Amino acid sequence: MTTALITGATAGIGAAFARRLAKGGYNLVLVARNTERLWREATELHDRHGLEATVLTADLATDDGIAAVEERLGDREHPVDLLVNNAGFGNKGRYLEVPVSEELTMLKVHCEAVLRLTSAATESMLERGRGGVINVASVAAFFPRGTYGASKAWVTQFTQGAARDVAGRGVRLMALCPGLVRTEFHERAGMDAEDVPGWMWLDADRVVDTALRDLARGRTLSVPDPRYKALLGASRLVPRGVLARASSTTGRKYGPK
Ligand SMILES: NC(=O)c1ccc[n+]([C@@H]2O[C@H](COP(=O)([O-])OP(=O)(O)OC[C@H]3O[C@@H](n4cnc5c(N)ncnc54)[C@H](OP(=O)(O)O)[C@@H]3O)[C@@H](O)[C@H]2O)c1
Repeated sequence: MTTALITGATAGIGAAFARRLAKGGYNLVLVARNTERLWREATELHDRHGLEATVLTADLATDDGIAAVEERLGDREHPVDLLVNNAGFGNKGRYLEVPVSEELTMLKVHCEAVLRLTSAATESMLERGRGGVINVASVAAFFPRGTYGASKAWVTQFTQGAARDVAGRGVRLMALCPGLVRTEFHERAGMDAEDVPGWMWLDADRVVDTALRDLARGRTLSVPDPRYKALLGASRLVPRGVLARASSTTGRKYGPK
């Protein structure tokens, strides 16, 4: 049986990956900080699908947390076939409104953890000649907007570059760049997303279906939904200065109340 490890598996997009992969017959390793919530989810998935779901409590903003997950990914006796680096969060406010310490925490979770976990998983997968890694970035990767967008741009560039470097050896890496998805993300960040037009919201289960389809097709970049594909296409035609201004205005609009 195949095994998937998902970080940030207890809510939003990560929980949608867990449900979808459980339905698809995967055993699961669920990673997040809240142990009680992890166990609740693991028990529910086990009872519904009969799979083996284990939990790994880890804070990916810490060295110990990242090391614990690296160790699990390096376990050659219990190999992980699919890694989903999904854990992440937003910071409210623009540049200099957010304390540098919180920006650094974001870089730790979005960049350092993704680099280390991707590397631990990919090394082991290359030995077996098969496996997959999905790194959850964002459409924010394509817009000049603060540390969040910059960290997601790093995830996207890193993943596509690494995918090219290991191409033809049985291991697929893909960056997933969704637009706005209804999850706990905005509330956790204290963002006011009430005014976001309805058409901009994506459904987490659909995002996951598209991501898995794109990975199976060998894509290294997945932008779920034609609306966001069109938005990205149009943004390439707009001068960078205009894009930065529009992006910053959006940040103010959907920023802290
Ligand atoms: N929602 C959107 O509109 C959107 C759009 C594009 C991209 N994304 C990206 O999608 C990913 C998932 O976001 P989401 O919207 O599903 O968010 P969410 O509903 O807030 O879920 C976040 C998950 O990450 C875990 N997590 C957060 N910080 C962690 C840490 N330091 N260590 C370990 N686990 C941690 C949380 O569990 P614990 O709190 O228990 O740790 C939770 O399971 C993120 O990378 C986000 O940047 C989201």
